[in-house]
Amino acid sequence: MIQLKGVSRIYQMGEEQFYALRKVDLHIRKGEFVSIVGPSGSGKSTMMNIIGCLDCADEGQYLLDGQPIENYSEKELARVRNRKIGFIFQNFNLLPKLSAAENVALPLIYQRLGTAKQKERVAWALEQVSLKDRMGHRPSQLSGGQQQRVAIARALASRPALFLADEPTGALDSRTGREIMDIFHMLHEKGNTIVIITHDEGVADQAERKIRIRDGRLSEVKI
Ligand SMILES: Nc1ncnc2c1ncn2[C@@H]1O[C@H](COP(=O)(O)OP(=O)(O)OP(=O)(O)O)[C@@H](O)[C@H]1O
Ligand SMILES: [Mg+2]
Repeated sequence: MIQLKGVSRIYQMGEEQFYALRKVDLHIRKGEFVSIVGPSGSGKSTMMNIIGCLDCADEGQYLLDGQPIENYSEKELARVRNRKIGFIFQNFNLLPKLSAAENVALPLIYQRLGTAKQKERVAWALEQVSLKDRMGHRPSQLSGGQQQRVAIARALASRPALFLADEPTGALDSRTGREIMDIFHMLHEKGNTIVIITHDEGVADQAERKIRIRDGRLSEVKI
């Protein structure tokens, strides 16, 4: 599903070249639950941006579902991000003026899904995260954990091939963070592919595979 072959991301710093990712090889199969863990500055966000097709490699190749990303136009990449990848962020990234249901519906509107189908999907996605009774609430009327559940429902509604989460529990207390991890476990059990990027070893240890990132290099860790 995800295949990185010798991927580097290089920033030019004056005369110097800085490798934020250094010849990274990574293979993630469909249905795997993988964490990528590392300290600040190790290259996590760089990695997330590459996997999420928000940024391109300077060296090497990225294949998503067997397709080399470099062959896609900007427009096609936007479509891949919208259809194939469910993004979940540390700060939820919900629109404050929209209700939970409207936030969840947003990507479906972009996909021009019919209204009836949209409603059905939104209800289903909110049901999955046990928030059907909060459909009409705005983000400010929800707790942090509930907001993150809405964000997961929004990702879920598009039925993405991959859930890609950047510090999904970073803004939450530890108990609420565990509830969010329970939802990822539930999604994993249903056959979804999940990649969580975090600096938190406790969060990383809950995945099926743990990969350490340090100075732009990856190593697999036994858990
Ligand atoms: N646009 C850029 N230009 C130059 N260097 C950059 C740029 N973006 C990131 N870097 C460098 O690349 C390295 C990796 O950055 P990255 O943002 O991926 O780290 P991170 O692991 O996500 O850190 P954090 O946990 O603090 O978010 C850092 O040393 C950073 O300074
Ligand atoms: Mg980061």
